[in-house]
Amino acid sequence: MSVPSRPITKAVIPAAGLGTRFLPATKATPKEMLPVVDKPAIQYVVEEAVSAGLHDVLMVTGRNKRALEDHFDRNHELEQVLRAKGDHDRLARVRESSDLATMHYVRQGDPLGLGHAVLCAAGHVGDEPFAVLLGDDLVDPRDPLLARMARLQAERGGSVIALMEIDPAQTHLYGCAAAVPTTDDDTVRILDLVEKPEPGSAPSNLAVIGRYVLDPAVFEVLKKTEPGRGGEIQLTDALQRMATDPSLGGPVHGIVFRGRRYDTGDRAAYLQAVIRLACEREDLGPGLRRWLHDFVAADR
Ligand code: UTP
Repeated sequence: MSVPSRPITKAVIPAAGLGTRFLPATKATPKEMLPVVDKPAIQYVVEEAVSAGLHDVLMVTGRNKRALEDHFDRNHELEQVLRAKGDHDRLARVRESSDLATMHYVRQGDPLGLGHAVLCAAGHVGDEPFAVLLGDDLVDPRDPLLARMARLQAERGGSVIALMEIDPAQTHLYGCAAAVPTTDDDTVRILDLVEKPEPGSAPSNLAVIGRYVLDPAVFEVLKKTEPGRGGEIQLTDALQRMATDPSLGGPVHGIVFRGRRYDTGDRAAYLQAVIRLACEREDLGPGLRRWLHDFVAADR
């Protein structure tokens, strides 16, 4: 059944996690500020929200929030120096992040989990569907996912999550979905979700990745969600309740994403993202590819 829904306008970006996998780099710097080539990871995420038409961005920040806020604010002193030098290219790049979107911030006092971070957005979001983009998860701009999710949510109502087919040996690292096909090739209906299932017990190899379009009913469900895996309030647990009881905000669908995605919260995946994106850059790519080729050859 098709349930028309209001178009989404707001994006919520949780960026308050401790980033323990990246210590000590993340001792005084949020992991979302780590550079991917020459832009912090979080800027790619805000750019993605804006290209899907979401200009109202709420960032959920924690300790060390200063760097995140400063990055999306003007830096008049730096701009003045670059202007005086006539360095218009760098000036434009410095201005880019402050001109991107209307930024809002809310503080998550304690990092009690992703579900709790999303709940911190309730006051700003109100009673309308909204997008959630994890601040450490990059989706290649050439493979637009969020706009597709928003379209599906507008057609079918309820909530939409993003899924990727993964190696079954990796399912214990992700939220995993039990799902059935729909009439759309890339879309499934979610029947159940499990956060980081024990090895061998995952319902499928469909893993939840960091993009969501959520019905606002999620806030009431989150308020009643007890801490789960790792003692954290898990968004997956709230979505599991919504998927198994459609009276809680409608159905939950999943888009099976087959494009390029980089998990910058994981050290190996972060390094791969930096190398891959740098190799594809006109200014850096040719030299870096040659060097990589020689480096790998010399190591044999
Ligand atoms: P992760 O589970 O990857 O974040 O959360 P983490 O806890 O920072 O990482 P590690 O495992 O200790 O290295 C996914 C996203 O949710 C945010 C994180 O900032 C990240 O963007 N998050 C997580 C919050 O905003 N608040 C939380 O309490 C937990």
